[in-house]
Amino acid sequence: MKHTSNTLPLLLSLSQYWQVANALDNGIGLKPHMGWSSWNVAQCDAASAKYAIDTANKFISLGLKDLGYEYINIDDCWSTGSRDAGGKLVPDPKKWPNGIKAVADQIHNMGLKLGLYGDAGQKTCAGYPGSEGHEASDIDQLVSWGVDFWKYDNCYTPCNQNPRPQTCNSPGGSTKTWYAPMRDSILRVQNTRKIHFNLCNWGRDKVWEWGAQYGHSWRMSVDNWGDWASVERIGSAAAGIAQYSGPGGFNDLDMLYLGSSRLNTNEERLHFGLWAITKSPLVLGLDLNKIKDSTLAIIRNKGLIDINQDSLGRAATTFRPPGQPAPVAGKIYPYWAGPLSDGVVIGLCAGTAAGRYSVNFAGVPDLGQGDFQWKEMYTGQTGMGKNVSFDIALHDMRVVKVVRG
Ligand code: GLA
Repeated sequence: MKHTSNTLPLLLSLSQYWQVANALDNGIGLKPHMGWSSWNVAQCDAASAKYAIDTANKFISLGLKDLGYEYINIDDCWSTGSRDAGGKLVPDPKKWPNGIKAVADQIHNMGLKLGLYGDAGQKTCAGYPGSEGHEASDIDQLVSWGVDFWKYDNCYTPCNQNPRPQTCNSPGGSTKTWYAPMRDSILRVQNTRKIHFNLCNWGRDKVWEWGAQYGHSWRMSVDNWGDWASVERIGSAAAGIAQYSGPGGFNDLDMLYLGSSRLNTNEERLHFGLWAITKSPLVLGLDLNKIKDSTLAIIRNKGLIDINQDSLGRAATTFRPPGQPAPVAGKIYPYWAGPLSDGVVIGLCAGTAAGRYSVNFAGVPDLGQGDFQWKEMYTGQTGMGKNVSFDIALHDMRVVKVVRG
């Protein structure tokens, strides 16, 4: 069943969100996936065994594995430029001197998972072989290597233009048809290997309306470029599609772009906090060898991770307290809330102006009258009462978990 209004009383709304229609039900993806991806680190140069193993070691030494970070995802450029004579994908021997399986085995032995990247068209976005017409045999190859996650992009896909461009703006049909053969192949092998299927069509054709029929998560926008404008563009758009996320199928707001120096610490807190409460996958896009302490503190915030991983799987969205102005398209609205299995999360975002932000709990969806206990996840402040207030610096965020007192 799909999500409906978020203004219902808590018990009623909980009972409505236990199931999400999901045609790719192979038993995984019931919570937003957490991990790391090579793309934002060094694009093609990071698609190597060295980065994969190094990151796996860092997941353990930095305590990230214990917090739930699990998938080591290698993005575009891991293969050679063409298939072999038998039509198989070939790992680039310079980047994978011992092949993929040896690395997958090592990563599995560390209690982690390995992901790879492919494309529904003739070529990947960076021009490596795509899977169109090879879906069944490519999945068999992933199974033989022990791959756990497959991001599936939409470059060089069927198009009314000839030759096909990298990005087809006139597909002449629904992009969803590009994802069906691979989804069916993943279902075919589900008793051998449970593969998380991550759709990447940049939010075309309102993918949130049908993504759960095809994959476990779906990119709902074009790329996060790592700047504040990207956080604003993607974060604000997430408010309108919250109802489509749920266990088994989540809006993917794209990889986290922390640690690049393009966002300041306030902006990194808002980026991570907003992705967490909207139930986006939390996929780190940074070099863990170079991480600053302030960024490390953000990605290790256990309270926020627990909110993101809450079993209810409901995404927070905006609500308008009495007397506050309406949301502005493309800007991050200050007031967000969403139900948790044991309470409600409230997000307060100083997306457009620093200032004092206050919320009366009685005006928050799913709360109602009464006194509530609350805890703020970035400062650790706690309290009890009918409201909360915080002075918030420009582009910073506070995330409050509220339970009935
Ligand atoms: C697309 C995707 C990115 C990344 C690149 C790789 O642009 O949206 O996330 O995977 O391709 O080429």
